[in-house]
Amino acid sequence: MINRIGIVGLGYVGLPLACAFASRSFKVTGLDTDLEKIELIKREEAPIYEEGLQDLLKKVLEEKSLKVTSSYKEMLEESDACFICVGTPSNPDGSVDLRYVKETIEMLGESYRRVDKYLLLVVRSTIPPGTTLNVIKKTLEEWSGKNIGEYGLCFNPEFLREGRALYDIFNPDRIIIGAIDEESGRILLDIYKRFHGISMPPVLITNPTNAELIKYVSNVFLATKISFINMISQLCQRIPNADVKVIAEGIGMDKRIGREFLNAGLGWGGSCFPKDVKAFLRFGEEIGLRLNLVESIIEINESQIENAVKLVEELVGRLDGKTISILGLAFKPGTDDVRESRSIRLVEELLKYNVEIKVHDPKALEKAKKILGDKVIYCRTIEECLTGSDLCILGTEWAEYKELRQETLKKYMRRPALLDCRRLYDPEEFREIKFSAIGLGPR
Ligand code: UDX
Repeated sequence: MINRIGIVGLGYVGLPLACAFASRSFKVTGLDTDLEKIELIKREEAPIYEEGLQDLLKKVLEEKSLKVTSSYKEMLEESDACFICVGTPSNPDGSVDLRYVKETIEMLGESYRRVDKYLLLVVRSTIPPGTTLNVIKKTLEEWSGKNIGEYGLCFNPEFLREGRALYDIFNPDRIIIGAIDEESGRILLDIYKRFHGISMPPVLITNPTNAELIKYVSNVFLATKISFINMISQLCQRIPNADVKVIAEGIGMDKRIGREFLNAGLGWGGSCFPKDVKAFLRFGEEIGLRLNLVESIIEINESQIENAVKLVEELVGRLDGKTISILGLAFKPGTDDVRESRSIRLVEELLKYNVEIKVHDPKALEKAKKILGDKVIYCRTIEECLTGSDLCILGTEWAEYKELRQETLKKYMRRPALLDCRRLYDPEEFREIKFSAIGLGPR
């Protein structure tokens, strides 16, 4: 029975996972090579914003069920299963950069060579099909001198959403285990049975390659759903009285379709969908298959930015000299992450015109500054952001923006106008001002 767990890579996936295991009677040793991050965590400060993470981190550190280190030797001595959660960024051509995964396996293998015990290695980083067998297994065996059976290996994709990481770790829809041999699968299953107890989710045990594919295919399918409804949103904008939100509601009532991931908007962003969709397309090319549906969903995703600019022009006329307020910069609500944020892409597009842009976000202003620099005006309150502006654009649907009323827009803006790019508002409530929304036909 494995009770001691090591987690390599304390980022958006690794840190919540480490805290979750530690909160359910596992002894966890977290490792990161970023010393600043380690120091921050030791001071009980979560380096990222995730709902509930700060409190849980403090609790598990105080209980001493989580400790962090930058030493592989120390981590290995104190764990019998090791979860790899390091990043797999994109190369300029869209393919996956496996550098961090390889480096991690090499360093781990080197320390493991001197240790005589069974270690279960669990890879959670998203990796292209075949990588567990062709890269990870080979690299580990080369550096550790051990063979399967002396160690175990699983690819175990995670499906957590940013901002909801802890919730998703505690309540996953399913667990996918891609085990290299029966023993590895059995041990990992046992770890999860103890972690979830009576609320154990359904499990699929398969080989590592299928598990690697399941991760990509899930994300590509979800991105396809979003691009599909975004295509329909462009259609609705050309049909009097049509409304994509109602269409999504109606088709979503069919259980075979389902309502989730049918929210039209600026498109999909974040650290996963754009990267994984492009990597999947590349992967197809490498094995001689053109995934043309995947090409189309990327195209639709891009076209939603042009679509939004078109709506801006329809709403306020010539952009020259206008002041525009953007509400929301995070790639989605509930996070300070701005990676591949569609709202920031829209800001960048609008900056090509001679406009002044004022921005607001409840959590992501600091991170947005690193991308947008001094090209926009950063505002601490919604009112400040609206003051003197000719158009307000909702870019990210934070719950607090839902409170916005047309009276507030009338009070602070030079010429009150609202463009809802995330379908947060009821058009009826903005009857007295210029209002437009993605997927809303002329009325
Ligand atoms: C996603 C997957 O949901 C998760 O399973 C995987 O592990 C990582 O990638 P995440 O990137 O955190 O998670 O966010 P998600 O909530 O899925 O949203 C992704 C993007 O799609 C966001 O930009 C969001 O605004 C957009 N989106 C989502 C829509 O435009 N419409 C929708 O209906 C849903």
